[in-house]
Amino acid sequence: MQVPVLTIDGPSGAGKGTVSRAVAKLLGWHYLDSGSIYRSLAVAVLKSGLDLSDVAAICRVAEAMSLEFDCGDELVVKLGGADITSQLGTETTGNTASIIAAYPEVRAVLLQKQKDFQRLPGLVADGRDMGSVVFQDAKIKVYLTASAEERALRRYKQLIEKGIDANLIQITREIEERDCRDQQRATAPLTVPEGAHYIDSSSLTIQQVIDQVVNLVD
Ligand code: DC
Repeated sequence: MQVPVLTIDGPSGAGKGTVSRAVAKLLGWHYLDSGSIYRSLAVAVLKSGLDLSDVAAICRVAEAMSLEFDCGDELVVKLGGADITSQLGTETTGNTASIIAAYPEVRAVLLQKQKDFQRLPGLVADGRDMGSVVFQDAKIKVYLTASAEERALRRYKQLIEKGIDANLIQITREIEERDCRDQQRATAPLTVPEGAHYIDSSSLTIQQVIDQVVNLVD
């Protein structure tokens, strides 16, 4: 039986994670946060002190990496049995993930780990190339975006709420750099997949986006 897949791609900070998790919960489907796979590899690579240009060594780490995902209310990720969840969300991890994700060899190693999430009754997959590469045959594809200024402001508010010192100008610059790297890389760049529903969340609430996506599935 064909396992249904809903893909939600878009740039960082567009609300993909929150929307995907909520939609997966409403539908009772599994959830793949593919960014967390790239982020976990970034944590492993940073820990091992590897040079970020040593592609062969990064691939060896990716092949050897044993990841466990607990996708309950809060995502918990274990790398080699150790809980690394708190390290996944940092800017250093995100930027490193974006750098190593540009290597086609690294993407090839991580491809099957992502496909393994396609299980009954269905999957909501969030990332950059879910609809264009990993789950090309997905029945429903969404491209969720928002302006760089709006995404930076959301990130800034999140950090301030957590009591973390943040600089809006620097966050905006980092978001624009990351967008540029993710969109311009040669392999599996961030792009609007063919047939995808385009949603700009700049002036929408999270609930409005969730409703729009669930309506597509209905
Ligand atoms: O979605 P995120 O911010 O957690 O992703 C972190 C980085 O991982 C992102 O900047 C690029 C990379 N990534 C990717 O190349 N392909 C994906 N499907 C998901 C993430």
